[in-house]
Amino acid sequence: MSELNRRDFVVSGAVAAGALVSMTAGGVHAQGSQAMKVGLIGCGGRGTGAAQNILEADPNVQIVALGDAFEGNVKGALAGLKRKDPKRVTATEETAFHGLDAFEKVLKSDAELVILATPPGFRPYHLEAAINAGKHIFTEKPVAVDVTGIRKVLGLVAKAKEKNLAVVAGTQRRHQTGYLETIKQLHDGAIGEITSARAYWNGNGIWFRDRRPGMTDAEYQLNNWYHFNWLCGDHIVEQHVHNLDVINWVLGTHPIKATGMGGRSNRKVGPAAEVGHIFDHFAVEFEYPNGVIVQSYCRQIEGCANNISESVVGTKGKCNVGGYVINNKYLLEGKNDNAPYVQEHIDLIKSIRAGKPLNELENVATSTMTAILGRMTTYSGKTLEWDKVMKSATEDTFPKNLTLQSALPVSPIPVVGKTNFFGAAG
Ligand SMILES: NC(=O)c1ccc[n+]([C@@H]2O[C@H](COP(=O)([O-])OP(=O)(O)OC[C@H]3O[C@@H](n4cnc5c(N)ncnc54)[C@H](O)[C@@H]3O)[C@@H](O)[C@H]2O)c1
Repeated sequence: MSELNRRDFVVSGAVAAGALVSMTAGGVHAQGSQAMKVGLIGCGGRGTGAAQNILEADPNVQIVALGDAFEGNVKGALAGLKRKDPKRVTATEETAFHGLDAFEKVLKSDAELVILATPPGFRPYHLEAAINAGKHIFTEKPVAVDVTGIRKVLGLVAKAKEKNLAVVAGTQRRHQTGYLETIKQLHDGAIGEITSARAYWNGNGIWFRDRRPGMTDAEYQLNNWYHFNWLCGDHIVEQHVHNLDVINWVLGTHPIKATGMGGRSNRKVGPAAEVGHIFDHFAVEFEYPNGVIVQSYCRQIEGCANNISESVVGTKGKCNVGGYVINNKYLLEGKNDNAPYVQEHIDLIKSIRAGKPLNELENVATSTMTAILGRMTTYSGKTLEWDKVMKSATEDTFPKNLTLQSALPVSPIPVVGKTNFFGAAG
């Protein structure tokens, strides 16, 4: 029996039992109280965290399949998740897959919803395959690392909608009570017209996973993915995307232009193939429509002043967005904030069960592109315009014919003003 027919068969049994189902172009999906079967692709820290969050979000969720590039990671995740919730983690060794094709095997399982939590370089391909397979999606941010990937993801927005598939992104601030309340008030005009803003992710250093003896280039880079741009996109994309997403949400649009500067001052020194090639600080001035200027700083250096925040200034005052403060008034007085990592899954599942699937793909793709533009202007040292970059940037950083045995050359550390890295359209 083909996969689709098998799923039809399973669900028609449920129909006979009185459960509600909805037909979509991609298949048949659970509604009402029917169990929601979930597959996890990318079983690292966030993937296993997201699997626990979705179990917490809804009593009627089961984790039915897992996939990871590495056998040890998928086995570890399966054991850890089963220990926490043996009844609802129904995946077995037979449905815990490893290898670079593990995602395809999870997509062939009876999971109706998949969590995509690999390094971001794979995301455009995994999103495409998951939508083609008719799965609802929780996708971690960012959703691409280059403009080629962004174009692919933007092309999937309508396809997911046509197939009635939900796509919720791991930009969890969009599901956080305090942010929702604060940004609603900003949209209602609490500080008048917004004239400028700033977004910061100034924090400490990030993990580095050493190369173990016998590792191929591909194994080493996949494991130590943060330090290689085809997988990570640099920390402005991987991490600062959260703050840039908040600014795009507040302003209701994306920047039209960016000028950046940055560098690599405190990371490991050595050949790029071993130490990676990402920067450790970026400062970008983004220009939005109507001359709104947004200052964006991000830094991953130990021992410096930390500040992770977004703030905006308007014609009638100012707002610390992540502090939930407008004109010195704290907006959550007497109220509790929620747990956004769980809430995003509550909202996702509710939307599927109600037959009104959320689709956050365009928002997260636009915020990812904002961060990519910031990286490109910084590496190239040129002022770059959104429209021109979207039309003309050609770089495709994803390796051809990738296997875990691949030898993967690494581009040198960018030299600002000299390196036209990643096809920056100057
Ligand atoms: N929303 C948030 O606050 C938040 C927090 C942390 C991480 N993240 C995001 O989650 C994603 C994963 O980050 P992490 O911290 O879990 O990293 P991690 O290194 O802990 O886990 C990544 C996992 O993906 C696996 N993997 C790599 N390539 C794969 C492939 N092609 N197919 C299947 N598995 C593959 C790795 O083996 C590893 O187990 C990243 O996109 C990151 O930006 C989001």
